[in-house]
Amino acid sequence: MQTHQHKTAPESPIGIFDSGVGGLTVVRAMQAILPAERLIYFGDTARVPYGSKSQVTIRKYAHDDTAILMRYQPKMIIVACNTVSALALDVVEKTCGNIPVIGVLEAGAQLAVSRSEHKRIGVIGTQATVCSNAYACAINMLDSEVTVHSKACPLFVPLAEEGFTDHPATRLIAAEYLRAFDGHDIDTLVLGCTHYPILRSMIEQTIGPDIRIIDSAEAVACRAKELLTETGMLNTTSETENPHLLVSDLPQKFSMLYRLFMGSEMPDVELVEV
Ligand code: DGL
Repeated sequence: MQTHQHKTAPESPIGIFDSGVGGLTVVRAMQAILPAERLIYFGDTARVPYGSKSQVTIRKYAHDDTAILMRYQPKMIIVACNTVSALALDVVEKTCGNIPVIGVLEAGAQLAVSRSEHKRIGVIGTQATVCSNAYACAINMLDSEVTVHSKACPLFVPLAEEGFTDHPATRLIAAEYLRAFDGHDIDTLVLGCTHYPILRSMIEQTIGPDIRIIDSAEAVACRAKELLTETGMLNTTSETENPHLLVSDLPQKFSMLYRLFMGSEMPDVELVEV
């Protein structure tokens, strides 16, 4: 496995990746919280979804995705994919060498623990994330008294990729999945997949107004700001610019979804081979 070493500066970009459009929710949160940072986003649209694949495959993809971003000499890598955060964060760290890595899962777990009043947390995520039990472990490392109930919602990823934010099919599937939390008395629900904030309003309507929703995308952006501040690596010079976008397939489809989720026209997108 190749390890990269390079010098970084506050002006260096931040590399962000996910399997597809889902990580754009992290890009959006980063732009809101850190507007001066240069962002490079890689969406592995050729190989989405990750969440239904084996650990071996996910770990290979995690290496490839990180290596692509390392070509741009980033000062930080954000794993905008809970599945990779759960199963392959060590692969990303190894591939990065000396660059700090932030996984979306850790940040989501922290925010959930700090917000749950009754220590009863629900987590929804991909099959791989839920089977790994990584959220429950991360939450219980922070507070062993918290009870965690998890439910895999594999159909949410293709629904988000299709842009079915307000579709009757999404409503039906959300009702079916979220029924798993009936009777468990959770007060907090973690959106443990970065595609899910795209369906947030439907999830909120289905689960009801009394349950607090945790968007791990926002949590990771706050964590990135903290870390950049602590290490003196905040970019104070650059003007706000569009993210540099890379995809591994179907750039045209990506542009339609970009417009939908980011609310602006997509800047140029580069096709890269994986
Ligand atoms: N958005 C990703 C996550 O946070 C991956 C979804 C997928 O490709 O299955 O887990």
